[in-house]
Amino acid sequence: MSDYLPGLEGVPATKSNISDIDGEKGILAYRGYAIEDLAEHSSFEETTLLLLDGRLPTSRTLAVFDDQLRTNRRIKFNIREMMRNMPGSGHPMEMLQTAVASLGMFYPGNECLTGSDLCEDLNYVHNMSVKIIARMATLVAMWEHIRNGYDPVEPRIDLTYAENFLHMLTNKEPDPMLARILDVCLILHAEHTINASTFAALVAGSTLASPYGVVAAAVGTLSGPLHGGANERVVDMLKEIGRPEKVKAWLDQKLKNKELIWGMGHREYKVKDPRAPILEKLVHKLAEHRGGKTSPLFETALALEEAARDHLAEKGVYPNVDYYSGILYSEMGFPTDQFTSIFAVARSAGWLAHWREQLADNRIFRPTQVYVGEPLRPYVVIEER
Ligand code: COA
Repeated sequence: MSDYLPGLEGVPATKSNISDIDGEKGILAYRGYAIEDLAEHSSFEETTLLLLDGRLPTSRTLAVFDDQLRTNRRIKFNIREMMRNMPGSGHPMEMLQTAVASLGMFYPGNECLTGSDLCEDLNYVHNMSVKIIARMATLVAMWEHIRNGYDPVEPRIDLTYAENFLHMLTNKEPDPMLARILDVCLILHAEHTINASTFAALVAGSTLASPYGVVAAAVGTLSGPLHGGANERVVDMLKEIGRPEKVKAWLDQKLKNKELIWGMGHREYKVKDPRAPILEKLVHKLAEHRGGKTSPLFETALALEEAARDHLAEKGVYPNVDYYSGILYSEMGFPTDQFTSIFAVARSAGWLAHWREQLADNRIFRPTQVYVGEPLRPYVVIEER
């Protein structure tokens, strides 16, 4: 039997051609295209299709896909009613996991999964992916209104994915600059090799569970603070520090207590996460758009990054994607507890690309374990214990 490696560190769990990380050089590429190029030139719609199909689409293919996403934004009113009956105090990720799973009851269709052709029909896989990706943003934005006691805002088909999300979340005409910033954020969060939530999606997918169950499993896994939930913690942490001049004393104390600095460190990257500098530039861009003033939160973040470098760089611990996405989302006015849900909206593209890849060459995941319990022993009846 091979050695047991806690956290499966370094253990390949699948073969994939969707994305690749070079953790020493700080490179992330989707289907061979550097994340910097996609952030500069692509849109979330195009990147999603690239992830799903494996190639950059033509204008025509992209227009068809974009149209499919737009026309699948609405959800049945019984889902809204279900959401209305959930406690407004609940965490948006728990709502999202429940709502995504419920889509399977309202938009069924996993007959192909249990039929003899085992999903060789790519149309089926594509259409199910569209149904989910299109509705992820709808569910997250709807919840913001429902949990505050209002009716949700209806989706619009004349807007891009990012614009529509902003419109539904804020009930305002989307600001084009904010929409482009969000679009880039969605691109940057859309995929990241086989991380914990993608692995959860693969395991669920390998059982031929429905794609709604696959994405619900992934949403639940993403919610933890060691994974997607870290961006929320970053903002809480920066608020706790308060001002740049308080960083040093705060950091010394945390490191002395061997506590984690949220938004720093990554299993794969031993240099700065390549998504972090792109997001950092977006924070600057947003500040310029608003007259050049940076917030105390951002200034504290910059000071903390610099101070942490002296202590953590030798361990290969640098800011990750959650560090600057937390700050950016906060500056964009999104509620802190929605940050991870927005991450999930984007990551649904990657999860479903991996689902498709898993189905194309499926074998159920069934690892083994190292049993460290009692050897076989006689049962003792209750009177004699
Ligand atoms: N703050 C302080 N120290 C950190 C750290 C952080 N955020 N991340 C890692 N380290 C330290 C560890 O304490 C360990 O130090 P040691 O060798 O002295 O014991 C060393 O760096 C290696 O860390 P390790 O826990 O083995 O790394 P990992 O690959 O198991 O964990 C993470 C990776 C992401 C889980 C971890 O860095 C972390 O918890 N980060 C904060 C949460 C976060 O931002 N998650 C989002 C990831 S995108």
